[in-house]
Amino acid sequence: MPVRISPSILSADFANLERDLGRIATADLVHVDVMDGHFVPNLTIGLPVVERLRQVSPVPLDVHLMIDDADRWAPRYAELGAFSVTFSAEAAADAVATARAIRSSGARASIAVKPGTPVEPYLETLDEFDMILVMTVEPGFGGQSFQADTMPKLARAREAVRASGLDVWLEVDGGIDTETIVTAVAAGADTVVAGSAVYGGDPAERIAALRAAAATVALSS
Ligand code: DX5
Ligand code: ZN
Repeated sequence: MPVRISPSILSADFANLERDLGRIATADLVHVDVMDGHFVPNLTIGLPVVERLRQVSPVPLDVHLMIDDADRWAPRYAELGAFSVTFSAEAAADAVATARAIRSSGARASIAVKPGTPVEPYLETLDEFDMILVMTVEPGFGGQSFQADTMPKLARAREAVRASGLDVWLEVDGGIDTETIVTAVAAGADTVVAGSAVYGGDPAERIAALRAAAATVALSS
């Protein structure tokens, strides 16, 4: 399975989101960063805007919630038709219950861990999740540098998925470009977010370049 590319519209033009969605039609997903100004020190968009994005997007929505009270809000994004809903482990009181609520509302359930948060507790209940997002920067802003010290954690998650036999996707987010994507895919990522690397140039060309770089790594799973 080729690596999935999920461009982040955090780096798009917020006054021209429909136009900029149209520019990533060759991507597999579109990554939608929802920030509340509390869980992270940045504020983006919420339910009404995400619902409109779903209506006009040429590719399925990969919603990434960086908001407090994930248990309450995550299922709402599933209900509006997101393909995947990722909530932040640090913001959930009951991760398994929240994942189940997302699934029962028709979306894939995914959990994100910040660079300093262990992934192991979530590997014990892998069957409850469709994806794990290993953050490769501190969440909040685009354009930060990739933190390579998160790669051992990603590799442990890949090993756990392999041992389980489950089809749980492993996503990375933050600082991905044509060099760091090689490192991340080699460590086990199969789904890759890229914001500034895609929207910093011609998006279709940048997506193709990321795919080509990822393809140089033989996925060992
Ligand atoms: C950061 C967001 C990312 C961000 C990535 O908190 O979750 O999705 O858009 O941006 P780049 O690819 O520029 O690091
Ligand atoms: Zn994100």
